[in-house]
Amino acid sequence: MKLQDTPLVKETLLRRLNERSALVGIVGLGYVGLPLALRFAEVGYRVVGFDVDEAKVKALNAGKSYIGHIPGDKVKSARGDGRFEAAAAFGRAKDCDALIICVPTPLDAYREPDLSYVTGTVESLVPHLRAGQVISLESTTYPGTTDEELVSRVEKAGFEVGRDVFVCFSPEREDPGNPRYATSNIPKICGGTTPACLEAGLALYGQVISKVVPVSSTRVAEMTKLLENIHRSVNIGLANEMKIICDRMGIDVHEVIRAAATKPFGFVPYWPGPGLGGHCIPIDPFYLTWKARAYGVHTRFIELAGEINHAMPEWVMGKLIEALNDRGRALKGSKALVLGIAYKKNVDDMRESPAVELMELLVKRGAQVEYHDPHVPVFPPMREHKFDLKSVPLDDKRIASYDVVLLATDHDVVDYELVKRHARLIIDTRGKYLEPSANVIKA
Ligand SMILES: NC(=O)c1ccc[n+]([C@@H]2O[C@H](COP(=O)([O-])OP(=O)(O)OC[C@H]3O[C@@H](n4cnc5c(N)ncnc54)[C@H](O)[C@@H]3O)[C@@H](O)[C@H]2O)c1
Repeated sequence: MKLQDTPLVKETLLRRLNERSALVGIVGLGYVGLPLALRFAEVGYRVVGFDVDEAKVKALNAGKSYIGHIPGDKVKSARGDGRFEAAAAFGRAKDCDALIICVPTPLDAYREPDLSYVTGTVESLVPHLRAGQVISLESTTYPGTTDEELVSRVEKAGFEVGRDVFVCFSPEREDPGNPRYATSNIPKICGGTTPACLEAGLALYGQVISKVVPVSSTRVAEMTKLLENIHRSVNIGLANEMKIICDRMGIDVHEVIRAAATKPFGFVPYWPGPGLGGHCIPIDPFYLTWKARAYGVHTRFIELAGEINHAMPEWVMGKLIEALNDRGRALKGSKALVLGIAYKKNVDDMRESPAVELMELLVKRGAQVEYHDPHVPVFPPMREHKFDLKSVPLDDKRIASYDVVLLATDHDVVDYELVKRHARLIIDTRGKYLEPSANVIKA
């Protein structure tokens, strides 16, 4: 299985990567894997995308995108040029020069890392490995995963890492819906198991990403990604705590943050909200918490921020109930419209969306709930939540028919002036309404 002539193995791989004649395999065609696959295809590589979800494979092979912010035209053009195909079976992995793993890394029922997707993928790939391949893990995870779960399995299969097969960790950075930054111009961190592995990683990503930042090990690369996400979680936690304090003092926290953000150095604005959402920020910090425990370290900032952010939906509910009460109404029996249910503005991604928790809390307390979200026309199937609802249209009469409008996510396409003109009561969790108004309560 091993090739003895190491330089030749590496040089052949580097040449194929640099000439763009390499076949690139992307495992997991989700929010991370699909744009990356399309980017490799766009610059001329042939790409095979692997995904266990046959429905996604079928849609992509038919030239359709199943993710709102990824244009179908891009998939269609990659398919039309014969540069991209999707597959549910791993057979073609042996033909790939590069294998990039972009599968989920969620938490389990005990809020501990669930690495089963990563380990399952690696085990499915092992029978198809051959000398001269580079494997890159992109899934967010704790430091040590690449060594413990990937390198160990590759070595067990008889390959020498850094000589036969090259392994690196290169975390994904994505900001869906951000018009300025896409896969190609977001700098990318890359760490290799050995110097030769790093060299292969840099050659792989250097062709498709404007700036690849090398680091000294896969563990540094893993930790860098966690620091980035923990930094957000902790600062959002601080903004949420400031919101509670400002509320008690009768101060508009959004006005305070906007004012502080005029400082040209040493301050970065983070905004409060109804709670954390998305696949990353509510989950990734706990990967580090779990691993740090094995080293006898408690991650106090992470846990405190988690506690504050986690308590936000109930805090918003308290404000909503109080506002209804002030208007002589009980939440039980009230008609509520949740405005924006995706986890953040201008995307259709519902993962971990705090709006869903708000909807559940409203229902639990006896309210009749509807929602409006132009990006989510039908409430999607979710692992832990079920609502048999469709997005309702917004017009003056309908807006006026609700006892309360709960603004959970501030998509740009909504006519917020129309909502303000006709709503009896708006609970604004995003600071969308700048001017005070009798029917707007910030929460
Ligand atoms: N979404 C983001 O903005 C973002 C940003 C940075 C990092 N990440 C990280 O990237 C990783 C992937 O996230 P995502 O948002 O793309 O997830 P996703 O759920 O959108 O996509 C994962 C895909 O992998 C597929 N899959 C699962 N198991 C598989 C297997 N064994 N073989 C092949 N395919 C398999 C799923 O069907 C799905 O299509 C996670 O670790 C996440 O934390 C995500």
